[in-house]
Amino acid sequence: MFRAFLACICLLGLAAAAAGSPAQPETEAAKKARMEWWTEARLGMFIHWGLYTLPARHEWVKSRERMTDEAYARYFDRFDPDLYNPREWARAARMAGMKYFVVTTKHHDGFCLWDSKLTDYQATRTPYGKDLIKPLIEAMRAEGLRVGFYHSLLDWHHPEYTIDMHHPMRDDEAFVEKARTRDLAKYDDYLFGQIKELLTDYGRIDTLFLDFSFPGPNGKGRNEWKSERLLAMIRELQPGIIINDRLDLLDIPGGWDYRTPEQFMPREWVSVDGRPVPWETCQTFSGSWGYDRDESTWKSVPQLIVMLAETVSKGGNLLLNVGPTARGTFDERALGRLQGIGTWMDRNGRAIYGCTQAPPEFPKPANCLLTYNPKTGRLYVHVLEWPLGVLALDGFAGRVEYAQLLHDASEVTFAEKGGETGFMPGSRGRERENTLTLRLPVRKPDVEVPVIELFLKRR
Ligand code: GLC
Repeated sequence: MFRAFLACICLLGLAAAAAGSPAQPETEAAKKARMEWWTEARLGMFIHWGLYTLPARHEWVKSRERMTDEAYARYFDRFDPDLYNPREWARAARMAGMKYFVVTTKHHDGFCLWDSKLTDYQATRTPYGKDLIKPLIEAMRAEGLRVGFYHSLLDWHHPEYTIDMHHPMRDDEAFVEKARTRDLAKYDDYLFGQIKELLTDYGRIDTLFLDFSFPGPNGKGRNEWKSERLLAMIRELQPGIIINDRLDLLDIPGGWDYRTPEQFMPREWVSVDGRPVPWETCQTFSGSWGYDRDESTWKSVPQLIVMLAETVSKGGNLLLNVGPTARGTFDERALGRLQGIGTWMDRNGRAIYGCTQAPPEFPKPANCLLTYNPKTGRLYVHVLEWPLGVLALDGFAGRVEYAQLLHDASEVTFAEKGGETGFMPGSRGRERENTLTLRLPVRKPDVEVPVIELFLKRR
């Protein structure tokens, strides 16, 4: 009995120590170790899928168009993704170079993609009739990807979810009046219960993206979600899990693991109180998260590659979103982009995985981005505008041992003042003191964004 008690205390202690708790905050080093796979991975796939793929005009359609439950029911009644083949999705993600994925288990409309015991508003009750999450996890794991869930804190379907500024029925006075008796505590039990299901029934879950808080009048934040208790439960169920920052616990030690700038590129490494922190930007191909038939602002493959390189050059991760169709497929526009990224990653992944911002002594050359692998001591110059024959790297002189184009490992010769790799007889020694001048082919290599790999001298 006493031993069982001790074991229990020990386990609780471990759970707390694994991720930190107010009583026993996690050390910086422990957090770094817990997040290591994620920091190395750098590129993940976000998947927004649910009933809103039928209207195909943004995942907020129910709120934007003030739809009643009855009106929205037409999508539930017709949800039948007959072409759904998670192995194809997983393959596309792996081929694009993605190392983890985050799928919407429930979005704000309240529809659940897994076989939840706590509601009928879920996939197995639709015409499709099957759990969508389990086979996806299996397929993704088989392709070597880590598993993440996006779960909406908001719920526009639950009968006890109180009406707030985003609720589809917010402008219907009679509805709002009637809904005054709603008891959010009951919704919270449901929220806790569902997250518990998700973190219990599907093995190891690597990341959790909870979305979102909007504290203040007519909003919801840490008090409404019971965020601290929710977080403690999550960490206890999955001690190694990595959690985003949308529980409204930014000021609580251990209240979040990484920041989530959404749909924009931060100007520099994201920091909190002046210190750089882990961050991941989530981005869409086209502006909508859910499948949006008529959205036309799709980013090009080179834009997406630059987005990835720029994110890593500032020490962040990129979570790139796909919104599958209501048939269960990735549409051609998404597939084309994933393939384009994959082709680039095949040859240039070394400049992304395990990489981060370059040390400050290497200034960023014009029209380039720099990434750096601290383990191998290699620096990567992503060349955004192919220059004419030479690329001058100010401040790099004396620091580089060897240089090559990354995609084909062909040597790039270079010159430094007093160095031995001058371009032409007689040109030797003309270089500026601190400058290392790379000699490049005139023709841009046949790669969307060519990368030059610099083997730095060990100091
Ligand atoms: C926002 C939106 C949501 C989307 C999410 C992705 O919070 O509400 O539709 O799922 O961002 O980060």
